[in-house]
Parts: sequence; C-alpha cells; structure tokens
Amino acid sequence: MTLRFSGRRIAVTGAAGGIGAGICASLLSQGARVYALDLRLDGLPDGLEGIQTDLTSEESVSAAVRRLYQDDSTPVDLVNCAGIVENDVAAEDMPMDLYDKVMAVNLRGVFLSCREFGRRLLESDSGGAIVNVASMSGNAVVNHPQRQSVYNTSKSGVSALTRSLAVEWGPRGVRVNAVSPGYVDTPLNNLKRHLHDQWISETVLGRFGTIREISGAVEYLLSEEAAFCCGTELLIDGGFSLR
Ligand SMILES: NC(=O)c1ccc[n+]([C@@H]2O[C@H](COP(=O)([O-])OP(=O)(O)OC[C@H]3O[C@@H](n4cnc5c(N)ncnc54)[C@H](O)[C@@H]3O)[C@@H](O)[C@H]2O)c1
Repeated sequence: MTLRFSGRRIAVTGAAGGIGAGICASLLSQGARVYALDLRLDGLPDGLEGIQTDLTSEESVSAAVRRLYQDDSTPVDLVNCAGIVENDVAAEDMPMDLYDKVMAVNLRGVFLSCREFGRRLLESDSGGAIVNVASMSGNAVVNHPQRQSVYNTSKSGVSALTRSLAVEWGPRGVRVNAVSPGYVDTPLNNLKRHLHDQWISETVLGRFGTIREISGAVEYLLSEEAAFCCGTELLIDGGFSLR
C-alpha cells in the first residue's frame, strides 16, 4: 500500500517538543522518512533519525543539511517547528539578551533553516515544500494578560518571511506556507499553567487545540493536495482571535 508520504524525506525542527514530536510521529506513520532536528534528542518517537542541531548556529544547521544529502540526493522537505517564548516580561523591562535569544531561535533560526534547506530544494528537479509554524500571536491577536512582545514580533516576522519566500521560490517549485496555532497544551506553556483556564474560556471552542489538529494542517500543506497553496497561512485557533 502506498502511504500519503511514501518516498518523501522530511526534516522537522523542534522535533523533541510537544507539537514537533506529534508531527514527526504522524509523518512517520504515513510513510515519510523523518529527520528530527532539535537541541535535545531524548524521548523521540521510534523510527526517527535524530540530528542534534542548534538553530541559532549557522554551522550547526548547514552541517545538518550536509549530512542529510551526504549519501542521498532525494529532496528533504522542511517543517520549522522549534520555538521559545519569554515568560511574561514587560517590554520596558526587556533585557536585550532575552530579546536576542528569542529572535535567534524564532526568526533568525527559521530564516537560516529555510535558506539552507531551500537552497537544496531549489536545485532539485522535483522542488519541495516548507511549512513554518508561526502563531496566532504574529498577526491575529496580542496575547494577554501575559506580556510577550518579542515572541509576538518574531512570529509576525515568520509570517512575513513565509510570504516573501513563497513569492521568491514558488515559481521555482518550492512551496512555502505556514500554520498558525492558537493555544495548545505543550511544554512551551508549562510556566503559565495559572493562565490556562482563562485562555480556554476566551477560546470560542472552549478548549485547547490538540497536537493532532496542528499536525493535520502541517501535513495538508506538505501534501500534494496543497499544490496550489503558496504563502498560505492556516490560522487554527479555535476562534480565539474572533473575540
Ligand atoms: N503550544 C502553543 O500553544 C503554541 C501556539 C502557537 C504557536 N506555537 C508554536 O509551535 C511551535 C512548537 O511549539 P511547542 O508548543 O511544541 O513547544 P515546545 O516547547 O514543546 O517545543 C519546542 C522545541 O524547540 C526546541 N528548540 C528550542 N530552541 C532550539 C534551538 N536553538 N535549536 C533547535 N531546537 C530548539 C526545544 O528543544 C523543543 O523541543 C513553536 O514554534 C511555537 O512557537 C505553539
């Protein structure tokens, strides 16, 4: 039986995280060869090929890409899922090293991995697909009561980057799209457990999104069914941004 992603090679950054691990497991179950890129590789689902990667390092990301193509020229599609968030810091008190740290992973890291994976995809005859995990916080809402101006700015940048790369690379066969989740219960939000009930009550559907609901959207954008999606951003927030 041919599975949906049989024959595809797909790298996922942030693969050890809540959403990233879910995406990896689902892609694996649908026949893809999945490469898990993360700072830490513990607790990954069986069957993944882990490559320890620091997205803030140009050398680390380019070494990961070199390794992926060393013995196999099959194009490697990319899901950019790594991300970090500052924990409720007022803008007027924001230390610039914290600003730099968040931007280094969430925006510079996404640009860097798009550049490194994108170069190879542009060279391939069959093109490829990149999906960036942005956030409702980029363009659709300003989160509250927690203050996270740098995260929100970084995610807005991911949305703009996605559209820009879609225009540059779409005509050359590389589709770049994004998924923007609302609140999902993952380690990213562990420090804000005291806010969970408030977030849920402000979400139209009255609950967190599930990892599967985000993964399903990522898979759609990776798939052939999304062949006409170019710079598309799927907002999956249970209606949070409508209120
Ligand atoms: N959970 C939510 O509510 C939510 C909502 C909107 C968007 N998102 C986005 O979804 C993505 C996944 O989030 P999550 O909730 O699974 O978070 P998570 O904290 O569970 O996972 C994030 C992963 O990124 C990895 N990472 C961090 N810095 C890295 C670096 N320098 N190099 C390589 N890997 C690094 C971490 O090790 C971790 O495994 C993020 O981009 C996040 O901003 C999450």
